[in-house]
Amino acid sequence: MKDILNCSLLPYNTFGIDVCADRFIEYSSEEELLQILPQIAQCRYLHIGGGSNLLFTGHFNGIILHSAIKGIEVVDDTTDYRFIRVGAAEVWDDVVAYCVANGFSGLENLSLIPGEVGASAVQNIGAYGVEVKDVIQKVETIDLTTGEQRMFTVGECRYGYRQSIFKQELKDRYAVTYVTYRLNKVFTPHLDYGNIRQELADKDVVTPSMVRDAIIRIRQSKLPDPKVQGNAGSFFKNPVVGREVFEKLHPLYPSMPYYELEDGVKIPAGWLIDQCGWKGKNMGRAGVNPLQALVLVNLGGATGEDVLQLCNTICEDVFQKFGIRIEPEVNII
Ligand code: EPU
Repeated sequence: MKDILNCSLLPYNTFGIDVCADRFIEYSSEEELLQILPQIAQCRYLHIGGGSNLLFTGHFNGIILHSAIKGIEVVDDTTDYRFIRVGAAEVWDDVVAYCVANGFSGLENLSLIPGEVGASAVQNIGAYGVEVKDVIQKVETIDLTTGEQRMFTVGECRYGYRQSIFKQELKDRYAVTYVTYRLNKVFTPHLDYGNIRQELADKDVVTPSMVRDAIIRIRQSKLPDPKVQGNAGSFFKNPVVGREVFEKLHPLYPSMPYYELEDGVKIPAGWLIDQCGWKGKNMGRAGVNPLQALVLVNLGGATGEDVLQLCNTICEDVFQKFGIRIEPEVNII
C-alpha cells in the first residue's frame, strides 16, 4: 500500500495541474481497500483512476484514493464469446491491445483512450460508434461506506452517454474493483463513424488490428498526447437539444453537423466552439486545441483556475451565439 502525506498530484492528472492533496492512498487488493475504509469514513475523499478526466482547481483537502488492482484473467469461454475479468487499475489501452493481439474483438474502436479500467466503467467511455457498455458484462465494486462487495450487471449500471449510476445516485459510494468484458470471437467491424471506412479503403479484408491501427492514426492526427501537452480529452459533452431548438438553428447554420437521437438532436460541442472562433486560441496559459476545439489544453504551467476561466468564457460565448448551454465532461474538483 502507498500512503503519502502532502502528495503532489502532478503525476495523477493528465492536465498537468500542479497541486497537492493532504494524503494519497493507493491500495493493491480488495483486502487493502477494506483496511483503509475506517480512515476515509471521517473525511473528504476522491477516488481517481488514470486522472484523464479531471481538473483540479486547487489543493485537495482530503484523501485521494487510487487503485493498483491489476490483472487480466479469462473467466469464461463459449463458442461465440470470451469473457475476461480485469483489475480496475489496468491501463485501458493495454487491455484493448491485449484483446486485439489475442484475436478477440469488441474494444478496438476504443483504442488509445487514456485512463484506467475502473474509470472506463464509471464514465462509459465511448468513441467511433462504440461505448464500453456494449462490451461490459458486469462490474464488481466495494461499498466505501460499509465495505460490502456488490456486483452490478450492465443493466444495473444504467449506462447512458458518458453516464452511469456511479456518476449519479451512487456517486462516490462504490469503488470499482474488477470489470468483466464479453469479447467476440467472430469479428463484426464498426466502420460507420467518421472517416474509419475511408482510412481502411485500400484493405480487402479488415481485422480488429487494422481497425485499432486506423483509430490510433485518426486520434493521433487531431487529439494532443497528454504526455506532451496536458489535456483531458473532450473537455465538454456534446449537447442534446430539443427538436424545436434544432429546427430553428438548422436553417441558420445548414453546415452544422448533428446526430438524431430518440430524445432530441446531438450537436458537436467542438463545432459550436469552433464557430465561436475559439479553435487554436488561448486565455493565458490555457488554450483550445487547434485541431479539435472540444479539447482544452495546458500550454505550460496553467492552473486549474486558468482552465476553468477559459471553460466558462467559452460556455458563455456558445450560449450567446447559439442559445445552447454546453457543459464540461471533465470532473472539476
Ligand atoms: N468539429 C468541428 N470543429 C472542431 C471539432 C469538431 O467542426 O473543432 C466537427 C467535426 O468536423 C465533426 C463533428 O464536429 O463534423 C464531430 O467531431 P468529431 O467526430 O471529432 O467528434 P466529437 O463529437 O467532437 C466525440 C467524443 C470523442 C470521440 C469522438 C469520436 C464527446 C464529448 N467526444 O467527439 O471523445 O473520440 O467523438 O468518436 O462525445 C473524449 O471523450 O475524450 C473524446 C475524445
